[in-house]
Amino acid sequence: MERYQEMIAGPAIFQMGVPAKETFPAKLFARIRSHSVRAEASAPAMYPDPRGELELRREIAASLTIARGIECLPSQILVTCGYASGLGLTLHALGLEGRKAWMEDPGFPFTRRGLELARLLPVPVPVDRDGMDVDYGLQNAPEAALAVVTPGQQAPTGTTLSLARRLRLLAWAVERGAWIIEDDYLGELQLQGPAAPALASIDRVGRVIHIGSFSKTISPTLRLGFVVVPPSLEARFTEVAACLAPPPGPSVQLATAEFICEGHFLRHLRRTKRVYAARRDALLQYLGTRADGDTVATAGLAVLVRLPDGAPDVAIVRETLPFRLSPAPLSVWYVSPMLAKPGLLLGVATCPPQYVERSCDRLFEIIHRCTSAR
Ligand SMILES: Cc1ncc(COP(=O)(O)O)c(C=O)c1O
Repeated sequence: MERYQEMIAGPAIFQMGVPAKETFPAKLFARIRSHSVRAEASAPAMYPDPRGELELRREIAASLTIARGIECLPSQILVTCGYASGLGLTLHALGLEGRKAWMEDPGFPFTRRGLELARLLPVPVPVDRDGMDVDYGLQNAPEAALAVVTPGQQAPTGTTLSLARRLRLLAWAVERGAWIIEDDYLGELQLQGPAAPALASIDRVGRVIHIGSFSKTISPTLRLGFVVVPPSLEARFTEVAACLAPPPGPSVQLATAEFICEGHFLRHLRRTKRVYAARRDALLQYLGTRADGDTVATAGLAVLVRLPDGAPDVAIVRETLPFRLSPAPLSVWYVSPMLAKPGLLLGVATCPPQYVERSCDRLFEIIHRCTSAR
């Protein structure tokens, strides 16, 4: 994973995980931020609330009810520096060192490493078209203390965790006293139809910790996200936030609160979804002329190009970098070598239609060269 990180020099065509610059109202946001920086500078020099600014927590609570079906109070929300610090806060607060944690295979490499750094033992659980195979987890590691899932749009395959599996997962958590972390990294940013409600929206027993992020919906440069905890965990999370994981400074939070409150966030999301859907369609259409239909599939905000077994996807990616292309190799998302499949994930946000033809032609030329040289 580290090697793959080193290879990436900045946003390039097909880069996954970063939003399009063109859809974001940067000037408007800069204006809002300059107000909040002034407000922060003239405010009394006091320690802010360790849970984050109330204005932002209120806006997040209201948006979550509408967009993700989660009924929660601002007191259940803690503002964090993105998903990464939300995960760190959660793992500190739950204190599950030495215990097993289910994670999706394929799944987000940073989650896997985050669990290891917090001294948990990741148990890879395969993923199919209904999301994480909960029965596999039940059969192979029922004693786990935690499951980390991306139920809305599985990372990286894009599948949605079925209702039947959601219910089995929750039943397991209740029966075993286990916790579930819902990584809702894309939130309502779903290109096909309305986004499925969050897993936390059907949690009546308080076992789900929901983590959201503004990295995809606004920008990863903000380093802004949030955790929604069941009421029983509010005090514990607040204590850990105060001592070990404080929120970012107030100005970025207040600016984001205003951006949401004034309706700019919703308008931005609507525009972004339209643009991404058009980019994805243009990409799929051109890929359809270059590859077999069953080797190409949509995967959240990416398009997956499957490669033949044994194809060196990491080496292919390395070859694409000098051409300012940056697809992600699918194989690095797998834990189990037995399951690992090669493929390329092409981010749609970073592929404007005018670059599709040239970039795909170059990509296929490299794929051909690397696979026929074996
Ligand atoms: C599965 C998954 N979770 C979370 C995130 C967002 O992380 P952060 O909020 O730390 O930027 C990403 C970003 O790529 C992701 O792919």
